[in-house]
Amino acid sequence: MTATKTGCLDSFTITQKQYQQICQVVYDHCGINLHEGKKELVRARLAKLLRKYKIDNFDDYLRMVMQDPGSDLFSEMIDQISTNLTSFFREPKHFEFLQTVFLPDLIKRKQQEGKSRIRAWSAGCSSGEEPYSLAITLLEAVRDKGIRDVRILATDISTRILKIAQTGRYEADRVAGLAPALKNRYLIRKHTGPGQDAYEVRQELRNLITFKYLNLMEPWPFHGPLDFIFCRNVMIYFNKPTQETLVNRFWDMLDKNGVFFTGHSESLTGIRHRFSYVQPTIYRKT
Ligand SMILES: C[S@@+](CC[C@H](N)C(=O)[O-])C[C@H]1O[C@@H](n2cnc3c(N)ncnc32)[C@H](O)[C@@H]1O
Repeated sequence: MTATKTGCLDSFTITQKQYQQICQVVYDHCGINLHEGKKELVRARLAKLLRKYKIDNFDDYLRMVMQDPGSDLFSEMIDQISTNLTSFFREPKHFEFLQTVFLPDLIKRKQQEGKSRIRAWSAGCSSGEEPYSLAITLLEAVRDKGIRDVRILATDISTRILKIAQTGRYEADRVAGLAPALKNRYLIRKHTGPGQDAYEVRQELRNLITFKYLNLMEPWPFHGPLDFIFCRNVMIYFNKPTQETLVNRFWDMLDKNGVFFTGHSESLTGIRHRFSYVQPTIYRKT
């Protein structure tokens, strides 16, 4: 044991040099750009791992993490650092746009071309609320329209969060904002205890989605063309050059007229790209 640990979680101290090393490792691996303001948050979150693995100090921890980027220790570090905040139908304007503008037009074009294939990608899907919301929106839109080949790829860098997404099970308060008709149609209520309920997504939604681990910084092992991409509240953690590279890779992946959605606090301002602006945080490949 070293003097940095006295048995209490918060007694793990982190030096500026150790913090900078962590920032560099995280940036190199997943593009997340940590800054000085995050130091205490990062220290507190990683301290949990030091305690869990009975590691005495951040020097030992860093040595172990650097030795094996394929280790659980490494992936748990990324899990702790990435923020997984999400919700069903988050940023409702995006779903309204899909429902009232984009999908009716897309479905009409597919019907005219005799095609039945729709492909979407939720990049940085977190615990699944985003792709399940997309699945609901798509199913509602294609109902009775003869479009049968609908698939959503849902990817994230966090294997822990992907496991939660795959269970498709949510506490009642997480689905409270869903319209009752949609809740009844697409979720199954499970009694979990006195006065307690949870909800599970129906198989019909699960059938549409493929959950996969994917680090957006690495090569993408699939081809387009995709009809639309949601990458919301993910790029906010990346610096401008990383965002620019990513946005241009998304453009390459989309079909003509395909649409790209970013998060409410993100924009493509200051990034060189080929998209046409549709409305705030929505861009079209023309
Ligand atoms: C704040 S959540 C956004 C969830 C959802 N898109 C939304 O807007 O509600 C950000 C997600 O991006 C993931 N993420 C961060 N860096 C990533 C990377 N390099 N590759 C893939 N996913 C990443 C995190 O694990 C996290 O689940």
